[in-house]
Amino acid sequence: MACNRASFAPAGIFVDAANPILLKTDELGRIEIVVRDGVRMIRRDVRAARWWAWLAAHRAAAREARALVRLAGIDGVPALLGWDGCELLRSYIVGAPMQQARPRERGYYRDALRLLARLHRRGIVHNDLAKEPNWLVRADGRPALVDFQLAWTRGRRGRLFRLLAREDLRHLLKHKRTYCAEALSARQRAILDTPAPPSRLWRATGKRLYKLVARRVFGYWDNEGKGRVRD
Ligand SMILES: Nc1ncnc2c1ncn2[C@@H]1O[C@H](COP(=O)(O)OP(=O)(O)O)[C@@H](O)[C@H]1O
Ligand SMILES: [Mg+2]
Repeated sequence: MACNRASFAPAGIFVDAANPILLKTDELGRIEIVVRDGVRMIRRDVRAARWWAWLAAHRAAAREARALVRLAGIDGVPALLGWDGCELLRSYIVGAPMQQARPRERGYYRDALRLLARLHRRGIVHNDLAKEPNWLVRADGRPALVDFQLAWTRGRRGRLFRLLAREDLRHLLKHKRTYCAEALSARQRAILDTPAPPSRLWRATGKRLYKLVARRVFGYWDNEGKGRVRD
């Protein structure tokens, strides 16, 4: 959103180029509303991460940048405005996080399902949708998604992708059950009643982890007799 030198944050707090507004700070860094060249945007500052978390914070921000590139142009996802290895800039979306806005309209969930389907069609799974602060309710009542640090960004590949995509959906339906339960369909209730069993998630993710460690530590992965595969 363009504005002249300064603009107002949702809470009505004055924000200008010299006074960023801190939204959140934790081990992985700092999230702020900033104004650059008169445009309000969100900055994730990885330099503010704790020293022992710096590598994880850097990887998470790089993953978020990758996801935002793949999702470019989707209404309801911030645009990537910059990533230089230290600072990730994304477009500001006017709205409030779900826990504040408490969306009770059916339309919100209909649009949220469509948004999720668009993500999945582009081969991105969000992986952090249980958290209400990652869902925004925009000024016009429509949904938006932020925080792609944990996203799966490697395209639509096999069983793990499908499993994680279904978990994305299940987390959205949990929010629908909280705020708009009467609009849940029978099929949606059935999905809510069948979370991915930990054993399936472990088989899908644990084996990948084991392969990764095997490759990193031993330099190879013995691929069931098909020969050694090097990175
Ligand atoms: N593009 C955005 N537009 C508006 N608010 C945002 C945007 N990105 C993040 N926020 C707000 O900042 C909060 C923290 O950002 P988020 O990316 O979720 O950080 P973290 O990874 O630390 O959870 C979000 O919960 C949301 O309320
Ligand atoms: Mg978040």
